Amino acid sequence: MRPRRFSATGPLKGRIRVPGDKSISHRSIMLGALAVGETCVTGLLEGEDVLSTAAAMRAMGATITRDEDGMWHVHGVGVGGLLQPQQALDMGNSGTSTRLLMGLVASHPITATFIGDASLSKRPMGRVIDPLSMMGAEFTSSPGGRLPLTLRGLSPAVPIEYRLPVASAQVKSAILLAGLNTPGITTVIEPVPTRDHSERMLHGFGAELTVEIAADGARVIRVTGEAELKPQNITVPGDPSSAAFFVVAALLVEGSDLIVENVGLNPTRAALFDVLRLMGGSIEELDRRDVGGEPVADLRVRHSLLTGIDVDPAVVPSMVDEFPVLFVAAALAKGRTVTTGLEELRVKESDRISVMRIALEQAGGRVTETEDGLIIDGTGGEPLRGANNAPVATHLDHRIAMSMAIAGLVSRGGVEVDDTRPIATSFPMFESLLAQVSGT
Ligand code: S3P
Repeated sequence: MRPRRFSATGPLKGRIRVPGDKSISHRSIMLGALAVGETCVTGLLEGEDVLSTAAAMRAMGATITRDEDGMWHVHGVGVGGLLQPQQALDMGNSGTSTRLLMGLVASHPITATFIGDASLSKRPMGRVIDPLSMMGAEFTSSPGGRLPLTLRGLSPAVPIEYRLPVASAQVKSAILLAGLNTPGITTVIEPVPTRDHSERMLHGFGAELTVEIAADGARVIRVTGEAELKPQNITVPGDPSSAAFFVVAALLVEGSDLIVENVGLNPTRAALFDVLRLMGGSIEELDRRDVGGEPVADLRVRHSLLTGIDVDPAVVPSMVDEFPVLFVAAALAKGRTVTTGLEELRVKESDRISVMRIALEQAGGRVTETEDGLIIDGTGGEPLRGANNAPVATHLDHRIAMSMAIAGLVSRGGVEVDDTRPIATSFPMFESLLAQVSGT
């Protein structure tokens, strides 16, 4: 454990650049590892989760190196060319690595065991086991469809048409990746749109992939198997989920005027910024541009008094990772914020509904937990009391740790976070950037 107290700070000023997008970084390593030839990746997120993906792809035959300038080079084995790993694949804390790699292994004639930390070992894998079993893969899992689990892939696998029972980009991506080495057409039907990085990148690597909107509004994604992927040069845009912490901090801390550069604004990811604007937040987009096929801008964020709102549950998939920090913003807003439709938050790195309710209450927030969300009555801009007695518990969840660090900045007594180590899974530079912008 590495506890740390986060306390009130002066205004956040200057410019910072957020690190590469985690979702896109995972996918660039995986697809690079399946293309024949060299894929070069600039701006890769060097967080523990992405390094877990890189280690697993190496264990299955890819050559992956980083040069002194920070560029990553991936020499792939070709679709169908993954090798039998000699040891269990250690996924650490990373649900994305686990679920997407299960998809890749499912249609290869190899057997792999997946292990992870205490948080990952509690997370449900049945959502990928079900469709991948229909494709022919076999599983031996721990009770409840959890890690450790062993997967025996089948080649050739069976193409399926699968309607997603949960709005999950990880499940969608696992099936599409399995479909890459499956003869025929694999179809995923997505009633509620989720992040579309896999589709964009598969297209970029030359896979035959189509997206159609069905009569009922669902997205129908088809990938043609036995694909040949062509190596790419990829620039990874900045991660909006990492930018979120600094955007909320600048909105909440009086006198702040901060520019957060290089923020990915893919519409399937960027709903937090829209919600914060609806609450009265001053967030301006500067220099909108395209980076690696994704929309990006610099965000100028100025201190604002926020007003509570009812958050439309339709936006949940496009800000699914941003609710913990939105709860902090709501705790400082004027009036009541109501969130609903957040069932999925209970199966993230921690139960983010209940863990954030407890942590915010400890810091002096007024919070009610419901089955599928939180109701928060904000302070109207007054600082929170702070968590004076005991450290808040983060349960190996990087986003809880960073959210409660931001809560500490706008509290009278400060907030002690019980363990800051998990922050390195997605945002290793978080604490040093925070020190930089707050002049501490
Ligand atoms: C991710 C999808 C989301 C998100 C996770 C990353 C991805 O999970 O919470 O942090 O890269 O596909 P679900 O798709 O399971 O909601």
